[in-house]
Amino acid sequence: MEPSSAPPRRTRVPRLGLLLAVSLLTAWIPPTTAQLTVEPVPPNAAEGMDVLLLIHNLTWDPPAYLWYKAATADQNFHIATYTPNPEQTTPGPEYHEGIRIFPNGSLLIQNVTLEDAGNYTLQAMNNFYIPSGASTQFRVYPKLPEPHITSNQSQSVEDEDSVAFTCEPEIQNITYLWWINGQRLLETTDRLQLSLDNRTLTVLSITRNDTGPYECGVSNPGNTIRSDPLTMNVSYGPDAPTISPPDLYYCSGAKLSLFCHAVSDPPAQYSWLVDGRLQQSTQELLISNVSVNDSGSYTCHAHNSITGLNRTAVENITVFGPVAQPSIHVINTTVLERDRLVLTCLTDDAGLSIRWTFNSQSLNRTARTRLSLDNSTLDIYPVMKVDEGEYQCEAFHLNCSSKSDPLWMTVKDNPEPEGPGLLPGAIAGIIIGVVAGVALIAVLAYFLYCSKIGRASDQRHLTEYKPSASNHSQGRSDSSPEQIDEVTYSSLIFNAQQPTPASLSPRVTETVYSEVKKK
Ligand SMILES: *[C@@H]1O[C@H](CO)[C@@H](O)[C@H](O)[C@H]1NC(C)=O
Ligand SMILES: *[C@@H]1O[C@H](CO)[C@@H](O)[C@H](O)[C@H]1NC(C)=O
Ligand SMILES: *[C@@H]1O[C@H](CO)[C@@H](O)[C@H](O)[C@H]1NC(C)=O
Ligand SMILES: *[C@@H]1O[C@H](CO)[C@@H](O)[C@H](O)[C@H]1NC(C)=O
Ligand SMILES: *[C@@H]1O[C@H](CO)[C@@H](O)[C@H](O)[C@H]1NC(C)=O
Ligand SMILES: *[C@@H]1O[C@H](CO)[C@@H](O)[C@H](O)[C@H]1NC(C)=O
Ligand SMILES: *[C@@H]1O[C@H](CO)[C@@H](O)[C@H](O)[C@H]1NC(C)=O
Ligand SMILES: *[C@@H]1O[C@H](CO)[C@@H](O)[C@H](O)[C@H]1NC(C)=O
Ligand SMILES: *[C@@H]1O[C@H](CO)[C@@H](O)[C@H](O)[C@H]1NC(C)=O
Ligand SMILES: *[C@@H]1O[C@H](CO)[C@@H](O)[C@H](O)[C@H]1NC(C)=O
Ligand SMILES: *[C@@H]1O[C@H](CO)[C@@H](O)[C@H](O)[C@H]1NC(C)=O
Ligand SMILES: *[C@@H]1O[C@H](CO)[C@@H](O)[C@H](O)[C@H]1NC(C)=O
Repeated sequence: MEPSSAPPRRTRVPRLGLLLAVSLLTAWIPPTTAQLTVEPVPPNAAEGMDVLLLIHNLTWDPPAYLWYKAATADQNFHIATYTPNPEQTTPGPEYHEGIRIFPNGSLLIQNVTLEDAGNYTLQAMNNFYIPSGASTQFRVYPKLPEPHITSNQSQSVEDEDSVAFTCEPEIQNITYLWWINGQRLLETTDRLQLSLDNRTLTVLSITRNDTGPYECGVSNPGNTIRSDPLTMNVSYGPDAPTISPPDLYYCSGAKLSLFCHAVSDPPAQYSWLVDGRLQQSTQELLISNVSVNDSGSYTCHAHNSITGLNRTAVENITVFGPVAQPSIHVINTTVLERDRLVLTCLTDDAGLSIRWTFNSQSLNRTARTRLSLDNSTLDIYPVMKVDEGEYQCEAFHLNCSSKSDPLWMTVKDNPEPEGPGLLPGAIAGIIIGVVAGVALIAVLAYFLYCSKIGRASDQRHLTEYKPSASNHSQGRSDSSPEQIDEVTYSSLIFNAQQPTPASLSPRVTETVYSEVKKK
């Protein structure tokens, strides 16, 4: 751009001064290291916006700024001249309301119109009133109306309908944009299609997941305006109903409460059929006191009035008759300790299972407890005092059951003498113990005799004693030294309890006991 040779009409720059500066100082142009530029912000504006023309690379403080609405410094298109000191704006022919020049020379155009678009030129004077120039241009686009979405259906049915959304109004030379669930739609898919001008979005075979929200936008380089979100109403279902609880077996007299649920929009209408006959039109079927006659096939029917679809679920329910009360058979409700206790549960129905309770808790099996294969007979041997208490048997089939009357069993003390009551193993043990004791005492008597004669060291005598006991044990095929000591020890205790027939004095026995303990 050429700096204008003619001075602006309404500037206070003296014509003579400028001419003088041009004539005298052609070679005296200040060192402009950087190129002066003007930048419009924003470069593409919409009607009504403010546009600021920023000056860049200004390396000096100009005494005057001259703005033109043209590609050159054309006096006919002079907007205004601004002097910072004293601060003054002198308007030109292109000046209008809303134009402002800041102290740094930048030009602000408020509330731009389409006519404000075009070329702008700045002249910044130096101290000799030699201008430096820069030009720019910006565009102004029409202000867009707020768009809205129309749909060819207000109510759609899943998998049946294809829904077309159209962005209104229709405007030439603008771009239409779409958002689904807040996400910009950038690519079409098999099910999402756009018209050529992108103004119409079609969702083929809509599903419950396609409710949106949908938004459309109108856009030109100056601005983008987004519509209010539109949510699609998609009816669907009913899906396959579920019946809860899923129990198939009930006891006569129990409460039957069946609840049906099917995913559906709008919510399904439910009805119950028993053996194909309509029972009631409710979501829950309630029979407070079922009998065997209520056995049958229970069907839940779910219907969606909008989709017109029907789905059913069936449960074949069996109601068992009442379980007859069992009874406990016992020979004698009093048993002696260590005797055998046999209880038998008697029921009418062979198909029933049996369980036992003791003192109202489920019976815990021990090594003394035996149950017959069908659990009907309880056999406890040998009976102990802890087995005394209340016994009950329960006959059951699935969750239908009946308990016998409680039966109290008394366990009486059995103060029998040991002899005949002892087991053969115990008798053998006692005999061996007696024999071992006698043998030991004999050895110890010998030892005492020897120590009396020649008072040798105790150590030696003890070592002598050990092998002798060991030899005795070997007869019982037991060679472990630890077990030898055990045998000896137990024999001594036995001796202490029952005085030996041997003619040894109690003093001797005492001595031996303490010596063995020392080991
Ligand atoms: C400032 O001037 C330099 C040199 O001419 C140039 O490279 C740079 O882009 C300019 N800056 C602006 C913001 O215009
Ligand atoms: C000039 O001043 C205006 C208003 O104070 C400001 O917005 C603008 O950024 C300034 N221009 C430059 C280039 O600093
Ligand atoms: C912007 O300009 C338009 C017409 O040019 C006018 O109707 C409107 O009131 C102006 N708005 C402001 C904020 O100045
Ligand atoms: C701006 O100036 C260029 C030449 O510099 C011209 O081609 C263009 O048409 C002008 N724009 C307007 C809006 O006058
Ligand atoms: C749209 O743009 C075309 C070419 O870019 C132009 O011929 C037409 O006049 C424009 N229409 C409107 C309504 O702006
Ligand atoms: C329509 O939208 C697609 C995807 O967003 C884009 O690639 C295409 O350029 C648009 N067409 C028009 C005419 O705006
Ligand atoms: C809807 O989305 C859920 C989860 O993404 C999916 O499991 C279901 O199959 C979808 N339903 C339809 C009808 O597309
Ligand atoms: C679905 O059930 C309703 C009654 O709930 C009935 O009127 C309708 O005919 C049934 N539709 C079909 C397709 O079976
Ligand atoms: C329920 O019983 C009917 C016959 O009474 C039978 O056809 C059907 O398969 C049974 N349904 C189920 C789930 O057992
Ligand atoms: C039950 O057993 C106890 C103890 O053995 C005995 O005293 C009682 O006579 C028995 N009763 C009957 C009815 O056999
Ligand atoms: C059986 O054992 C459980 C857990 O060990 C205990 O809580 C319960 O009291 C026992 N029942 C009887 C009858 O002792
Ligand atoms: C007998 O009872 C035991 C539990 O005490 C159970 O595991 C078993 O299944 C029962 N047998 C029969 C035939 O009911």
